[in-house]
Amino acid sequence: MTGRCAVWESRPGGARRPPVSCPAVSEFQTSPGMRDVLAPESERWRRFVDVFASVVEPAGYGLVIPPMMEDAAVFTRVGEATDVVSKEMYAFTDLGGRTVALRPEQTASVCRAFVQHRPTTPWKAWYAGPNFRYEKPQRGRYRQFDQVGVEVLGVDDPYLDVEVIALGWRFYEALGLRQVTLLLNSLGEPADRARYVDALRAHFGADRDALTAESRQTLERNPLRVLDSKRDADAALIATAPQLADFLGKEAAVHFDVLRSGLDALGIPFRDEPRLVRGLDYYLRTTFEFAGETLDSAQNALGGGGRYDGLVEALGGPATPGVGFALGLDRTLLACDDEGVFGAPERSVDVFVVDTTGGAEALAITEHVRRSGRSADRAYDGRSMKAQMKAANRSGAAVAVIVGDDELAAGTAVVRPLRGDGEQIVVTRPDLLNHLEAVLS
Ligand code: HAM
Repeated sequence: MTGRCAVWESRPGGARRPPVSCPAVSEFQTSPGMRDVLAPESERWRRFVDVFASVVEPAGYGLVIPPMMEDAAVFTRVGEATDVVSKEMYAFTDLGGRTVALRPEQTASVCRAFVQHRPTTPWKAWYAGPNFRYEKPQRGRYRQFDQVGVEVLGVDDPYLDVEVIALGWRFYEALGLRQVTLLLNSLGEPADRARYVDALRAHFGADRDALTAESRQTLERNPLRVLDSKRDADAALIATAPQLADFLGKEAAVHFDVLRSGLDALGIPFRDEPRLVRGLDYYLRTTFEFAGETLDSAQNALGGGGRYDGLVEALGGPATPGVGFALGLDRTLLACDDEGVFGAPERSVDVFVVDTTGGAEALAITEHVRRSGRSADRAYDGRSMKAQMKAANRSGAAVAVIVGDDELAAGTAVVRPLRGDGEQIVVTRPDLLNHLEAVLS
């Protein structure tokens, strides 16, 4: 299929031919599950990260920027039994023969960085950026998706779990989201968890044929993950599965109680969710998820996290407790759309310069205005007064500065308000900046 589009053919020497027919759909498109983010949506992404920083930095968290690609073993070491690592990871051999992977998440990278650099503990880190998982793309599920998150290494105190969860909650509040539910569970100490996994294996194994083929496969690799199946056919057997609360030892139970009372003290509501297991496999004791009530239930996890006390050790470091979360930017913004909060900002400039004398005046004036700290835009290509005024109105600018032949000869400019009902006036060029400042402030 072909259509008309405004592509001008270039010729040697800079001459151009008028637009030619070209394919209506361009030859190159983003890969499935990957997207371009254009302004003003991209501006919303940046503000999302800024708001997150404004919540976590006052609590003592410092930005960490791990590489997007790591030795694949950093991830396989900590998540071999999970789909995220065993099925969805973009792993490949680089030109130097190393097996590397695009990070599917950042917790393992942050722990690897801790082992490599040994910062003093408690190490409180926050991060933002893209991750990659080869998943089936759909609304709220992408192959490249962004997260913001925190990780704290070196502290065992349940009050830290409270702090971490509270930061996530306060962030959603700062965005204006109201329909978020905090789901809470404890996976116990390693021994509790191991006993529970055995009990699950026995429960599901006894009625194996009642499970879907996918869940039978999951059962082989990781019985806990069967609990996470959203398939209707698995629901009955999951509903009668043993509950982890019955397997918690004293230590994990106390940790969980302190966590819950801390959340109560901060007025953060939560729901106990005894079947909450998460997609990654490194959690012990605290696990939690923030569910977006407006989203489709299969993709309603806005974020989640928990304790992963064995992770640093698994990566070759000293035994070091850790806790953190990651919040998905993409899904959280979908939830914001649903709730009508934290919208994309209106883009506008303070000043739009209209120059019908050839364009050099607009060059000088926009430069002066920008250097004075105000934003300014202009039209190009020597367009007519009418076309330039149209562009000025479209830009959302508060005022237009207009220079025609008469103003050029007189050393003046016309300042015309584009919003409200102020009068246009003629100012001398040396007075222009002062006048603009008075009008704009
Ligand atoms: P996760 O649950 O795999 O945890 O991901 C956290 C959040 O990232 C999800 O709740 C979701 O919002 C978003 N997310 C995950 N996959 C996708 C996808 N394919 N498309 C769009 N959004 C997605 C972790 O990544 C852990 N590292 C969290 C953590 C940090 N635990 C301890 N510290």
